[in-house]
Amino acid sequence: MMEIKLLTQHYDKDEFIGIQGYQKYGGYEVLSKVLKLNPKAIIDEVKASGLRGRGGAGFPTGMKWGFLPANGEERYLLCNADEGEPGTFKDREMLSRAPHQLIEGMIISAFAIGSKKSYVYIRGEYRMCIRTVEKAIAEAYKAGFLGKNILGSGFDHDLDVYSGAGAYICGEETGMISSLEGKKGQPKLKPPFPAVQGYLAKPTIVNNVETLAAVVPIMRDGAQAYRKFGTEKSPGTKLFSVSGNVKKPGVYEVALGYPLIDLINNECGGLISGRELKAVIPGGSSAPVLTAEEVRRATMDYECLQGMGSMLGSGAVIVIDDSNCMVDLLKVIMHFYHHESCGQCTPCREGTGWLHKIVSSIVNGEGRLQDIDLVLRVSQQMMGRTICALSDAAAMPAISFVNKFRDEFEFYVREGRSKVRGSLHAQM
Ligand SMILES: Cc1cc2nc3c(=O)[nH]c(=O)nc-3n(C[C@H](O)[C@H](O)[C@H](O)COP(=O)(O)O)c2cc1C
Ligand code: SF4
Repeated sequence: MMEIKLLTQHYDKDEFIGIQGYQKYGGYEVLSKVLKLNPKAIIDEVKASGLRGRGGAGFPTGMKWGFLPANGEERYLLCNADEGEPGTFKDREMLSRAPHQLIEGMIISAFAIGSKKSYVYIRGEYRMCIRTVEKAIAEAYKAGFLGKNILGSGFDHDLDVYSGAGAYICGEETGMISSLEGKKGQPKLKPPFPAVQGYLAKPTIVNNVETLAAVVPIMRDGAQAYRKFGTEKSPGTKLFSVSGNVKKPGVYEVALGYPLIDLINNECGGLISGRELKAVIPGGSSAPVLTAEEVRRATMDYECLQGMGSMLGSGAVIVIDDSNCMVDLLKVIMHFYHHESCGQCTPCREGTGWLHKIVSSIVNGEGRLQDIDLVLRVSQQMMGRTICALSDAAAMPAISFVNKFRDEFEFYVREGRSKVRGSLHAQM
């Protein structure tokens, strides 16, 4: 068991959810300390910690903050709590178990970047989380941690919750900004990047829930203490939401660089009895799948997974045992991306539809052998040609499923039934 808890330390204590419980365990002490610092010193500390954004791309947080214009122009901080990637449920835990840690991290981050207004954009399906965070914000106002002249520092900050309506594309930062502006949640071309021109055309920083919550232990213990965990290029700890065929699915915090097989066996109690490991999607449904053999070599950090042709993404580990048919699974994933494409770009709108249609025809027993290569060709045409990364997010799993489990696709086409289930027409 890997007992490192910078984010989940008090998740098991119900009292931690309210402000009194949070303060009992040292809550808001870091805020009082940092409000006396020069904001630049906070940005430098976050840079030195090597913290990388936990929303998917792993971009260095301090560097992103450094892209804001130096002048005093009005600016915004947006917390991305949309969490729409299949398999990802780590932010939900933070919102519901430790809302004040997120709020404290947001106030510190807002102070660092000079923002007087921030929003937590929470997906509409997270009704309970919305209520929990709204209650925590009200408590923080009452205690003087939000509002005018916070703790006598002269710093003013307002924080609000904004509830999305449940579209995956609103998790993409420019889609989220459009949605927050009251428009359709459609992504915009970059550049300009939000740090230069974001919400209401003002400089804006978008960070994930876990990223902003991690600012609290970094500023409490210092960058060097944070760097004791993780690897040189992937410092710190990370929350992994593990689902699929394991005995104990859930959210686990481990140091980056932790072996994937240990996460499955030690934290999650191993596979459901009598089953063999077949594959793992290590970073949400958009991450290329790893075979069982690759899983045994993988460590959970940005570099290792990238080196294996996959990615850490949002940290959603989906464990697949030998009772699953990879063709059926790809059909479910493609249905998701087709449904969630916002339709602005032809390669994405048409490509996700084609991929879903082709894989569906194989599952319906109507596939042709050339359809397997067609999946690869369509996917390749979808990569790197669109406004946002949703198109790539659909293409990458499709390519990896076909390349690594081609025998299952060929069997389906030749025999008209699943190699794993034995029958046609999966129930889904
Ligand atoms: C289709 C799509 C969906 C995304 N969904 C989320 C999401 O739900 N939560 C999130 O934090 N980032 C999501 N992202 C990444 C964001 O665009 C952005 O990079 C991130 O919020 C930045 O925060 P970070 O630097 O803390 O990682 C998504 C990206 C894409 C392309
Ligand atoms: S890639 Fe897809 S989701 Fe992204 S903007 Fe284009 S059509 Fe919309």
